[in-house]
Amino acid sequence: MAKIKAAFIGCGGRNGVHLQKCEAMGDVEYVGFCDIEEKKAYNYAERTKTDPEGKIFLNYKDLLANTNPEVIFIAVPPHQHGEIEPAIIEKGIPFLTEKPIALDMPTALRIEKMIKEKGIITATGFQDRYQNLTQIMKDYIKDKKVGLVTGAWYGGIPGAWWWRRMETSGGQLVEQNIHIFDQARYLFGEPLYVSCAGARGIVDGDKYGVPGYNVHDYSSAVIKFQSGVVATIFTACYAQGKSSMQSGMNIYCQDATLEYKLRNSLTIRDPQGEQYYERGEEQTGIMDKIFLDAIRTGDTSKILADYSEAVKSLRLCLACNESIETGKTIFF
Ligand SMILES: NC(=O)c1ccc[n+]([C@@H]2O[C@H](COP(=O)([O-])OP(=O)(O)OC[C@H]3O[C@@H](n4cnc5c(N)ncnc54)[C@H](O)[C@@H]3O)[C@@H](O)[C@H]2O)c1
Repeated sequence: MAKIKAAFIGCGGRNGVHLQKCEAMGDVEYVGFCDIEEKKAYNYAERTKTDPEGKIFLNYKDLLANTNPEVIFIAVPPHQHGEIEPAIIEKGIPFLTEKPIALDMPTALRIEKMIKEKGIITATGFQDRYQNLTQIMKDYIKDKKVGLVTGAWYGGIPGAWWWRRMETSGGQLVEQNIHIFDQARYLFGEPLYVSCAGARGIVDGDKYGVPGYNVHDYSSAVIKFQSGVVATIFTACYAQGKSSMQSGMNIYCQDATLEYKLRNSLTIRDPQGEQYYERGEEQTGIMDKIFLDAIRTGDTSKILADYSEAVKSLRLCLACNESIETGKTIFF
């Protein structure tokens, strides 16, 4: 099989994972690495034993002007989305972009419209949709009556400079816990309305070595879904040391409960007894393979979160932030 020509915009942590998955697949040729920090782009070339000559770029425009990728992976800080994607779409190149896809709806909707007009194949980084555990949950609840759901991402104080600021990350709810919000949409459908309370005051940025920190320390969102499900989702980034609380999701059916431990395990308790499942094959690798296969074959049916799906999850998370700021319930 001919190798697929790939380029990477943003050569930090997350694209490093996509790169690793591409390396594991083996049928990928590397035609360009772009990062505003040259050294990071060089590191990717080194990792893949690629001759850096003509393949290292400090600006996505130069990458697009001087290379011919068949696919691009984008993993940049959230506030950097908006200009990169239209330039890629203009050239008709399929791309996988990391979540959150933007920090405001006009940007996301503008890009979505361009994607639809050009018929570009896209994927977004909602890796959890590809997990065996998520699929088991989805199949199990198909014919069940679900009432309440709780979800939580209980984590530590963010280190990255852009992560710890609202204007560059959207806060933990948008930047990180969007995974659980997206999973809720994937399992329970579209939301009707959301009300969210959030607060700051536990994390002192200077004291904890994260100057400029201005994101919410914690929040709790109550979402009513069109299906009738009511979900409460906790988001917290103030934990210190070892925490005994496991992030994940609990689903309360009429005759069963599902206890999902984030990217770890699932326990289903019902009249048949207790069924325990461990996470199977790592999900980002599955996601990336499905995406590259879709580009090769044109069959996009296995892509579980294209750009339009990510737009809807972004809308839900931005509505939570709006609710925190205004104290109002936000209707969709
Ligand atoms: N799907 C997931 O599970 C998952 C996991 C981790 C991170 N992410 C997402 O990936 C994104 C990036 O996170 P990360 O951990 O890789 O961050 P990072 O800081 O490690 O890497 C981002 C890289 O982008 C570079 N960059 C910044 N602006 C750029 C621009 N305009 N053009 C080219 N390069 C630019 C930076 O120099 C940096 O090297 C975030 O949106 C994050 O939420 C997703």
